[in-house]
Amino acid sequence: MINFKIESHLQKAVLSAYPDADPTRILIRPCPDPKFGDYQCNSLMNLAKGMKKNPRDVAAEVLKHLDLGGLGDSPEVAGPGFLNFRISRNALSHVMNEAFKGEHLFYRKPEAVKSFVVDFSSPNVAKTMHVGHIRSTILGESISRTLRLLGHSVVSDNHIGDWGTQFGKLLYGWKSILDREALERKPVEEMERVYKAVNQQCEQDETVLEACRNELVRLQSGDTENRKIWESMIQLSRGEFDRIYQRMDVGFDVTLGESFYNDRLISLVNELEDAGIAEESKGARMVFFNDHPELKNNPAMVRKKDGAANYMTTDLATLEYREKTWQPDEVIYVTDSRQQLHFKQLFAAYRRWKPDTKVKLTHAWFGSILGEDGKPFKTRTGKTIRLSLLLDESIERAREIIEQKNSELPEESKEDISREIGLGAVKYADLLQNRQTDYTFSWEKMLALNGNTAPYLQYAYTRIRSIFRRIDPEDWKTIVAQGKSEDLIILEREEEFQLAKQLIHFGLVLEKVIEECRPNHLCSYLYELAGCFARFYEHCPVLKAEPAEKRSRLAICDLTAKVLCQGLNLLGINTVEQM
Ligand code: ARG
Repeated sequence: MINFKIESHLQKAVLSAYPDADPTRILIRPCPDPKFGDYQCNSLMNLAKGMKKNPRDVAAEVLKHLDLGGLGDSPEVAGPGFLNFRISRNALSHVMNEAFKGEHLFYRKPEAVKSFVVDFSSPNVAKTMHVGHIRSTILGESISRTLRLLGHSVVSDNHIGDWGTQFGKLLYGWKSILDREALERKPVEEMERVYKAVNQQCEQDETVLEACRNELVRLQSGDTENRKIWESMIQLSRGEFDRIYQRMDVGFDVTLGESFYNDRLISLVNELEDAGIAEESKGARMVFFNDHPELKNNPAMVRKKDGAANYMTTDLATLEYREKTWQPDEVIYVTDSRQQLHFKQLFAAYRRWKPDTKVKLTHAWFGSILGEDGKPFKTRTGKTIRLSLLLDESIERAREIIEQKNSELPEESKEDISREIGLGAVKYADLLQNRQTDYTFSWEKMLALNGNTAPYLQYAYTRIRSIFRRIDPEDWKTIVAQGKSEDLIILEREEEFQLAKQLIHFGLVLEKVIEECRPNHLCSYLYELAGCFARFYEHCPVLKAEPAEKRSRLAICDLTAKVLCQGLNLLGINTVEQM
């Protein structure tokens, strides 16, 4: 593919100018401003920095060695040392035809496939999943899907919170105030109620607190009754989580909760102590990071005063297990911003403990969802909003839109379409934001048919599909067959070039999504793609064109639909044929 070929020509040029450079670090990306070119390389600046040379001189030197072989015209050095390229129109038609022949869909499989563990969603047992978990689930799923599409291997792991001091209170409440009938109907809600009630009792009555502690000790020492109750709590919670995952079309390769690592915790702390990494401090065991500028004042606790291990200990054991079991090149954790310190400590402690490890550790953190009042998103009565109800409401609202737009559709289609629109809107609103900014939740905005929303993109897709409903399927089959051996796509009009350029950016955008764990790049890309398509469709008649032009344009429509569908799929969003 042309952009990837440009990249490899550039890498060759860099190597011949600077034989010691690492060519894999030389990348091209779509030019942020099309005025200056189609692609831009800004990796030469880092190269120059490493060699202590002037970046513009380095860029000029690389240019002397560069031969684009007709793929693009005269690259330019710009700004502090960028290279801007314009691709040639011939080369552009060529990639389009390759894609129509089925050779690729504008992305490439990497030369070196990597392996990843993606830790996401990870809700807590006996607590309902709320909107805070939504971002982790949606982001994690999208990152995993993109990695997989590009050929990497992924283990997705749902690290559920199924261990900890809360189980003392839960066990005490289960035995004293559980409403069996409510448990049957809405298990997690009932457990949550029990927990809150016991918590209140504890605040007023020391003896209850003591009783809860005893229940916890009994659980930890393997008491049969408490183990059994604890297991039912997990089972009931997982049943409810799974129903939501199924609705959201989210899947995990493994669900290894915190409790899975229990047997390793004591020996782990001992090991850290023996190695001089953890030390005693006021009865607890701490890891100090004296030479770490950021963590100097934030030691990590790995054993509490009462001897119990904690979240940190479990995460150390988890990471060790993951490295041993899957040998990942990278582990990605998707959680909210409040856990940043935890993960900094975890990564630093782990590297001290396993100095030879090569694993890359990434905390892909995200901000919060705000209500329209700018405060954390809550129900009117101030409760946290539950994920399942949120999805119900979105689907219901989508249904109203469908009723208005296309009331003749059969009942069954209306139901399917509203579901996909409703789910898509929630997912897209979340993914569209740079994950590190807080965003304001707004039904109106996310369900709007005009604007940067899932319904808009799903609608754009249906518009393309409707073109194909207006031609004879047999004719289309013939065109597809013909396209296998002939170059059917001829780009002539400016709108066709623009659309084709946008299409061929797809793979580079996916690479950027992975590099930064930011699916919002893909959202912006798809939105622009839909815009390019709308301009093309407005200016370039498809069905009324001359036969050769019609074939070419139908092929362009087909490729656009495929990229839209594939792109939305990576965001966890399904397309529909009509709406
Ligand atoms: N259960 C945790 C929470 O709800 C998230 C766990 C994230 N993963 C991890 N390995 N710590 O906050």
